[in-house]
Amino acid sequence: MKPQILQNISLKPYNTFGIDCTAKNFIEVKTVDELLEVLKLVEQEKFPSIFILGGGSNILFLNDFDGLVIKNSIKGIEKVNNTENEENITLYVGAGEKWHQFVLFCLENNYGGIENLSLIPGTVGAAPMQNIGAYGVEICNVVERVKVIDRKTKEIKWIINDECQFGYRSSIFKHQAKDKYIIIGVEFRLTKKNHILNTSYGAIQDFLYSEDTLNLNTNQIPSINQISKAVIAIRESKLPNPKEIGNGGSFFKNPEIPSNQFEELKKEFPTIVGYAVSDEITKVPAGWLIEQCGWKGKIVGNTGAHKNQALVLVNYGDAKGEEIWNLAKEIQKSVFDKFGLNIEPEINIVG
Ligand code: EPU
Repeated sequence: MKPQILQNISLKPYNTFGIDCTAKNFIEVKTVDELLEVLKLVEQEKFPSIFILGGGSNILFLNDFDGLVIKNSIKGIEKVNNTENEENITLYVGAGEKWHQFVLFCLENNYGGIENLSLIPGTVGAAPMQNIGAYGVEICNVVERVKVIDRKTKEIKWIINDECQFGYRSSIFKHQAKDKYIIIGVEFRLTKKNHILNTSYGAIQDFLYSEDTLNLNTNQIPSINQISKAVIAIRESKLPNPKEIGNGGSFFKNPEIPSNQFEELKKEFPTIVGYAVSDEITKVPAGWLIEQCGWKGKIVGNTGAHKNQALVLVNYGDAKGEEIWNLAKEIQKSVFDKFGLNIEPEINIVG
């Protein structure tokens, strides 16, 4: 059957910034076969551009979209045959599954590895694009391989972890192979026991061991459920819920700079925060830089930098994508003027 493409669909429910723009053409696909059919049609119809939409939690639409938006809703969580032993299991997850739903599934089954990535918005298929990460864990730690369709040849193939070229908020899918593949599913290698826990973040430690929260004994090893609870509590206290205030999480990446440049900056700004990535490279939290420039909690028209986390730009109402992007550029400029540092968007700007 020929896929039914819808016309002039509002993208407001499909992006967490809540930008009200329109897709000239729109289709949702629920299976790989449906997707292949749509790709055949794309060849005949010659749309000016194609955009693959996951959870819409990391994009900012600047204008109406003239081409075809394909919403990837391919679902399913399966055990991969002959991969399970006493310690580990491999799961194959459809790209359209909601990321946090998958985290909850793993917690219910006591599969460890992604508990620190609780409550991250978006879909499983979008997660490898930018190598989602939080509280010391990145998805690249657990991805075995990624299943894709080559957009040109329509061939289905696997990209193994090493080939994904994962880095800080980056991968081959975001850079070298941008627009080459459509991710249709991801295989994860998870633990069933002897979970590899990461509780190094101060805020996680506080939640686990403070009297007014979980109050564990300092020698008690937390469960993956308890770590997830800690992460959820931290995220809820700092990050605005996109269902209440439109946003796309961190708008910028934290700049990674030569450590000697960091030392120079420290002389001028003694309270500057930095984390060593290696002996030569230091990561500076962009949230701190933005706050120092006076943006934290500031409201500019319909937008602003959030009051609890300056790195998160928000839509207070009917902001257009352009309005948020203009604010982002002003913020970039002021950070550059004060610190001489370039902060780059983490969000994909479409327009
Ligand atoms: N900070 C400020 N002012 C602010 C915000 C932060 O001074 O307004 C300082 C904090 O005090 C802290 C440091 O910056 O010393 C780091 O802050 P935080 O722990 O909140 O983390 P982040 O570096 O701002 C990154 C990720 C988040 C992830 C957290 C936790 C990026 C771009 N962002 O934020 O990811 O949840 O670490 O691991 O790397 C996302 O990508 O959308 C996202 C939310």
